[in-house]
Amino acid sequence: MLGLKLETDPRWVNIVEKNIEEILTDHAYCEQKAATNAITLMINFPYYTDLVEEMVKLAQEELSHFEMVHQKIKERGLKLGFERKDEYVGDLYKFMRKGDHRKEIVLIDRLLFGAMIEARSCERFKLLSEQINDEDLRAFYRDLMISEANHYTLFIGFARKYGGNVEDVDKRWQEWLNYEAEVLKNYSKKETIHG
Ligand SMILES: [Fe+2]
Ligand SMILES: [Fe+2]
Repeated sequence: MLGLKLETDPRWVNIVEKNIEEILTDHAYCEQKAATNAITLMINFPYYTDLVEEMVKLAQEELSHFEMVHQKIKERGLKLGFERKDEYVGDLYKFMRKGDHRKEIVLIDRLLFGAMIEARSCERFKLLSEQINDEDLRAFYRDLMISEANHYTLFIGFARKYGGNVEDVDKRWQEWLNYEAEVLKNYSKKETIHG
């Protein structure tokens, strides 16, 4: 799915469904971090007008996802807990080429980092939409899965547009996919979106 090289172990869903409070709290913060990432892109690359426009929309949409997850938490008589550490995203962050490179190189990796997280989130949401033993959450994750697939496309599109004359973006994307598959071998064991 979306080029991912390794599928999530389906037993991850069995871990998740035993602790809905944990997955919803973690999920809410994934949406907040997605909004924050869109804002970072917007303020770091202000000279790409269409990127700024799309990142404003994306930040708003991700924040509305946060609101939707928070609503689910409230419906179940729960409260949003504190942020959970996302070690998977931390591992991906290490693969990004940062500061001392040419601006476009940094932009390409920021966008591919976003695309990677969207792709894996989309795969996880699909699994939840098909297999979680909670009908309400199945429908909820089906809708969100579609949004995340669109975000993946948006990030890849901008990487090709603004990075295509600097390097082979599709080759770099393959490197990301290979790296992520190695990282994922250590996961699928915890009741968090990327755990
Ligand atoms: Fe989202
Ligand atoms: Fe997203």
